[in-house]
Amino acid sequence: MIKLVILLSIFSYVRSSLLFPKPEGRIVGGLPADILNYPWQISLQHIESHLCGGSIFNDKIIVTAAHCLKNMNASALQIRAGSSFWNKDGVVVKVAKFKIHENYSSKNYRNDVGVIRLISPLPLGSNIQPIPLTTTEPAGGTPAVVTGWGVTEQGSTSLPPQLQYVNLNIVNRLICKLQYKLFQIKSNMICAGAKGKDSCQGDSGGPLVVNGELVGIVSWGEGCASPHYSGVYANVFKLRKWIIKNAETI
Ligand code: ARG
Repeated sequence: MIKLVILLSIFSYVRSSLLFPKPEGRIVGGLPADILNYPWQISLQHIESHLCGGSIFNDKIIVTAAHCLKNMNASALQIRAGSSFWNKDGVVVKVAKFKIHENYSSKNYRNDVGVIRLISPLPLGSNIQPIPLTTTEPAGGTPAVVTGWGVTEQGSTSLPPQLQYVNLNIVNRLICKLQYKLFQIKSNMICAGAKGKDSCQGDSGGPLVVNGELVGIVSWGEGCASPHYSGVYANVFKLRKWIIKNAETI
């Protein structure tokens, strides 16, 4: 009974948040970013065009989303690191091979993580740095930042040349479950959002960061910056063992 009351009050909270007018879709709602502030960010590219984001795990390993790698051929993939622009500067390194999580499901985006091995090591420096994986799961309300070269408006087809960042908050999993169909949001997912702010198409695979640690990987969402739905990220805390093991063995 108490559970029901809690559920109902959360539901009415979610309902009231739906009544606000829909903000303009615009990394939606973000600002241009300098790679020096996000030196772990890379652009994953297919035949030299930006495909997805990713994060530097060490000088030879990149962490990204499984759905970015699905049905791809490693020989057509490269990454650009160390630049605020996806199409110039920094360094470009080809992909040697990649591995997708064994339990990744393209139907429901569960375990949306993969690791990439580069053909040669990245020249680490102030603009090219690994990011540590979180060892705790951040609670709802925790401030987080997401970066990427994804579209700045839902439905847009042109990517911003310069990296964008946007500040979000972690969304409590139960709230997120109530926004989506209850069983869509699994414990290996973590939600984040803010009014008029979100990641969007082209940001996938990129980093959701709390206190300089990787807590999420851009995965999916209903539209972008919808007032009704949070963005959904692969939950690094739950996937961290897989990432560490496969970064070593790939
Ligand atoms: N799947 C998208 C991509 O491939 C990312 C979508 C993120 N959506 C969101 N509303 N946060 O780039």
